[in-house]
Amino acid sequence: MNARLVNIGQLVVVPPGPVAGGDMQMVPTIAGAELHIADGRIAAFGPAGTLGDAPADCETIDAEGGLLTPGLVDCHTHTVLAGTRENEFVQRIQGKSYAQIAAEGGGIKATVKAVRQASKERLVELALPRLKRMLAGGVTTAEIKSGYGLTLADERKMLEAVAELRTLQPVELVGTYLAAHVVPTEWLNNRQGYLEEMYADEVLADLRKSRLAAFGDVFCEGGSYTPEESRFVAEACLRNGLGFKIHSEQLSNSGGTRIAAEMGAVSADHLEYVDDYAIEALQAAGTIPVVLPGCSLFLDSEPAPARLLIDDGLPVALATDLNPGSSMIESLQLIMSYACVRLRMTPTEALVAATANASAALSRQDRVGGIAEGMQADLVVLDAPSVDAWLCQLGRNCVRKVLKRGRTVVQRAE
Ligand code: NIG
Ligand code: FE
Repeated sequence: MNARLVNIGQLVVVPPGPVAGGDMQMVPTIAGAELHIADGRIAAFGPAGTLGDAPADCETIDAEGGLLTPGLVDCHTHTVLAGTRENEFVQRIQGKSYAQIAAEGGGIKATVKAVRQASKERLVELALPRLKRMLAGGVTTAEIKSGYGLTLADERKMLEAVAELRTLQPVELVGTYLAAHVVPTEWLNNRQGYLEEMYADEVLADLRKSRLAAFGDVFCEGGSYTPEESRFVAEACLRNGLGFKIHSEQLSNSGGTRIAAEMGAVSADHLEYVDDYAIEALQAAGTIPVVLPGCSLFLDSEPAPARLLIDDGLPVALATDLNPGSSMIESLQLIMSYACVRLRMTPTEALVAATANASAALSRQDRVGGIAEGMQADLVVLDAPSVDAWLCQLGRNCVRKVLKRGRTVVQRAE
């Protein structure tokens, strides 16, 4: 796909990730810019009139004076799901906690029940409109986790639904195997047996070979899995060529982030209760801290210390954690704006966190999430003069156009 993007009011030149600490604020912009796309990749960009010849047979796309940024990357979602949990939403309003509801058999287990009953076709049908809305909100790459099946067949069904969704819409999808989400009721007396079955070498090797999953994940928390069990999951994933991710320190300081660092995890996600020692370990390991403030917004709880992480020099990423229980939020733009208000991230830091660093949390930083020659032309045109002016509007979808590999896939009217 060859194209020439003209009339860009401001081009935000987010560098490829990971972008750490103070560099997250140091993003150059070009006023009155143009950008050339050849074979779906960024070929050149700069002030209008300073670029060489446009690529042959190229379409001209008018940005109408808008802001141009990399396509957003939602690096932590549970978008494939069934059933709804608005009953829990109301129970929390009336005073129950997320942990209490889970302990009483609701929570993740309620969604597991619904997912087990749903066919793969039904899971696809339910996720497709969500992905279309995410795309319309500027998301061009998203991660989707399993973790609501908790049997070999049901976990595979979820990842096969992700694979099918790849063929039905333009958002690039990365599958993550999260069989260690909670301990299924039928295995409560044999937790290790469950992990050995679900993270057996042949299971993981097959998920990798069939491209159903690029990562393995575990929910390390009291009530789910211990740090030692998380290490077992990490070792099995790494031995079989899957990258390792972890849900750590969401509801308590339970030690998962240290395991992330020790095992060289690609990312450690949540981090609401992370301590200084674990922050240092993450930094030394090069693990991306993924902060999910949608949970704080949805559960009215304390968020992760993102400001501290950035000030300590880490490459913080942001994601929605879209799921029916702790963050029923599809809008990454809303999460970015909320991160500004609640986490004291600047709008530019929030943009870097939801593009370059989110891409690094998916090991896609050489291809996705930045503006540089040779990177995939995944781009968003926004109806705003600057990143600050965009993200100070909470809950408005400012997206005008979305390009995936240089092709216009969203065109929104005022
Ligand atoms: O990332 N932490 C565990 N998993 C999800 C919640 C899933 C749910 O409540 O359904 C999360 O918050
Ligand atoms: Fe999650």
